[in-house]
Amino acid sequence: GAPVEVNIAKAEPGQMIRVKWRGKPVWVVRRTPEMLNELTQIEDELRDPNSEEPQQPEYAQNKHRSIKEDFFVAVGICTHLGCSPTYLPAGMGDHAEGIESGFFCPCHGSKFDIAGRVFQGVPAPLNLVVPPHYYIDENNILVG
Ligand code: FES
Repeated sequence: GAPVEVNIAKAEPGQMIRVKWRGKPVWVVRRTPEMLNELTQIEDELRDPNSEEPQQPEYAQNKHRSIKEDFFVAVGICTHLGCSPTYLPAGMGDHAEGIESGFFCPCHGSKFDIAGRVFQGVPAPLNLVVPPHYYIDENNILVG
């Protein structure tokens, strides 16, 4: 499949942009400073907090699972049986799912943080996939 260009110039903090790449949903979330703070606060609750499983390119194997801190790029497919999780934006207090912001899979209740890292005690075995991507320039990402 062809690479897909995503223009991120107009993304507001907290907003998610959805595109398709190779027939799959790909998300680009512009994370807020609050969301980024959460990443270090919930590590104890995660299955693979340091992203040791190969679910991302090497350049995204870091604390934020991304190239730039604020922009998170992921394949929007649950690592359990392939449903597409729901985006839970921040700023709404604790969600019913028990997380401040992240992704919730309605099929069997898997939860992921705002870096796509899976929580313990849910059916999904692995963090969400970060696809290969790079910045063409400040405002455009090429996925693929
Ligand atoms: Fe997401 Fe089962 S497919 S929890």
